Amino acid sequence: MSVTDNTKNEKLIGRQDLDDIEAILAMSNHDEDGSLHYVTDNAPTIFTWDYETRRPQLRKLYEKAKTGQWNAETDFDWKQSVDIEGTITADQAITGAGLDPSRYADTPIAKWGDKEWLNFGIEGRNWTLSQFLHGEQGALICTAKITQTVPWHDAKLYSATQVMDEARHVEVFAKYLNEKLGGEYPINIHLRMLLDDIINDGRWDMTYLGMQIMVEGLALAAFGFMHQLTTEPLLKQILRMVMSDEARHVAFGVISLQEVYAQMSDSEIKERQEFAYEASVRMRDRFLQQEVWERMGLKPREILPFLMGDPTRIMFQQMLFAKIVPNCKKLGLLDRNDKWLRHRFEEMGVIKFETWENTADDYLAFEIGKEIKTV
Ligand SMILES: [Fe+2]
Ligand SMILES: [Fe+2]
Repeated sequence: MSVTDNTKNEKLIGRQDLDDIEAILAMSNHDEDGSLHYVTDNAPTIFTWDYETRRPQLRKLYEKAKTGQWNAETDFDWKQSVDIEGTITADQAITGAGLDPSRYADTPIAKWGDKEWLNFGIEGRNWTLSQFLHGEQGALICTAKITQTVPWHDAKLYSATQVMDEARHVEVFAKYLNEKLGGEYPINIHLRMLLDDIINDGRWDMTYLGMQIMVEGLALAAFGFMHQLTTEPLLKQILRMVMSDEARHVAFGVISLQEVYAQMSDSEIKERQEFAYEASVRMRDRFLQQEVWERMGLKPREILPFLMGDPTRIMFQQMLFAKIVPNCKKLGLLDRNDKWLRHRFEEMGVIKFETWENTADDYLAFEIGKEIKTV
């Protein structure tokens, strides 16, 4: 067995490559050891002998987490059948296929009939939920890492509860994919590289920024969007239960990093702004369902140029930033260094979300039993 050295050739991509289709397609996703993937964690483990409660906001979150745990096995009716064709047909009637078919006249998609569009919807649902599953495992590992690396006692206690939350999320998505959709897609290479970068980084606050703010911020918006639109009752319930935990997780990140970033120099903040931007572009432009196009018998190279410029797809992608942007604002990341991140978010067309609720303030609104606002 070998330990993959991700520092050699898989560091965060340079900005000049971010929109390069050839660069997107050049990455392969083959692990030497089959189902195992090795990543080097460069962060030191920190003990603390200070057991005083220093951060009451985190202790409040910790108490919420202890009493908010649901059971993936017993809190759902797993006997109910899922009519995947029926639910995708109904969902597509509400949202369309997530892209504008008229833009693909010069591609093989132009010949698609109802059957192909339905298959595309089914594969797309499976792919999306599969990436949720793999992202949940990323969160499981990142929060175990935070428990080890954060120097604050209150944060170690809280992050330990998040490890258990993420275990239940991995469990519930794996069970749904396995029992109701017939198995999962592998992890998308660009999602995997983002997770690798977060694990690789030796600075403990970067785990929070990468996972709690960027990946979980995007997940909270994506779960909310799917929860609002899907007609499938079991999936709707799963997403609702997971969101009640995820809002707490994002709040954990915002509350913790607010304190850390208030004390950082401009140059240290600049590194965090660049990390947030590169993660944003990667999540916006690189998760293009390449694997779905291949399963539909098409060459991603022929479709991606059209997909990248499709305004319907871009609109859906922009909505995924509804939580990330207000949370970056709450952290002070938008405007430090001559508004560097604000300008990047303006270019991406997502700055409009800056006035939306940030998750440090609205996580209680996601508790089970409350009606949630979604994107
Ligand atoms: Fe999760
Ligand atoms: Fe989470």
